[in-house]
Amino acid sequence: FLDGPEVSLFCVVDGETVVPLLPAQDFKRVGDGDSGPNTGGMGAYTPLPWLPDEMTGRIVDEVVKPVAAELVKRGCPFSGLLYAGLAITSHGPAVVEFNCRFGDPETQAVLALLESPLGQLLRAAATGELAAQPALRWSDGAAVTVVVAAENYPGRPRVGDVIHGADPGSEHGGSVLHAGTARRDDGAVVSAGGRVLSVVGVGADLAAAREAAYRRIASVRLPGSHFRTDIGLAAAEGRISL
Ligand code: GLY
Repeated sequence: FLDGPEVSLFCVVDGETVVPLLPAQDFKRVGDGDSGPNTGGMGAYTPLPWLPDEMTGRIVDEVVKPVAAELVKRGCPFSGLLYAGLAITSHGPAVVEFNCRFGDPETQAVLALLESPLGQLLRAAATGELAAQPALRWSDGAAVTVVVAAENYPGRPRVGDVIHGADPGSEHGGSVLHAGTARRDDGAVVSAGGRVLSVVGVGADLAAAREAAYRRIASVRLPGSHFRTDIGLAAAEGRISL
């Protein structure tokens, strides 16, 4: 058992060079207040106002860099995205899992604040030039993503329903990213998976980002769909502490 809040830290890695992105937190349970069954993730926010600034450096130094160095030592250097899923326990950061991919839905929030070109960063990792890259530039403020899930998700989701109000473009400070959707022959966009789409809100702080995300989600209409209403709420209200 690991006590303490969870953190997802995505790092671009090229051999022993590690470039962390902003730490994020996702919400795995389907219902508000972390109720109900586990899902692939119902929402996320970044940055984490309750996480001390030095913790990202500590995770990089104590967790990610040693893993990257060990892979180099074993003759299989890693190049790509290393995702550390951690619990910040009373004894410090503890690893829950690693993935060698971006995490969903944290990525939707993290990339919303990244100002540096992502393609340039990934290309540098792929060509062994990550160490020479300038420091990443980030927007000030916060980003919140909220997932709209199909009826019955995370069980077998109901699919094939027409979705309204989900144009990808930004609107009222929020944007829509499609995931489990498809375009029907008649041009209508329909649900085609469990986690159908996510909205992303950006704002000066977490409260403003939440407001933008939930304002945008209010215009999405999909019969039977559901979403969590408390993404980032505890953090915005200062209710998370280490
Ligand atoms: N956010 C969880 C995952 O991508 O595995």
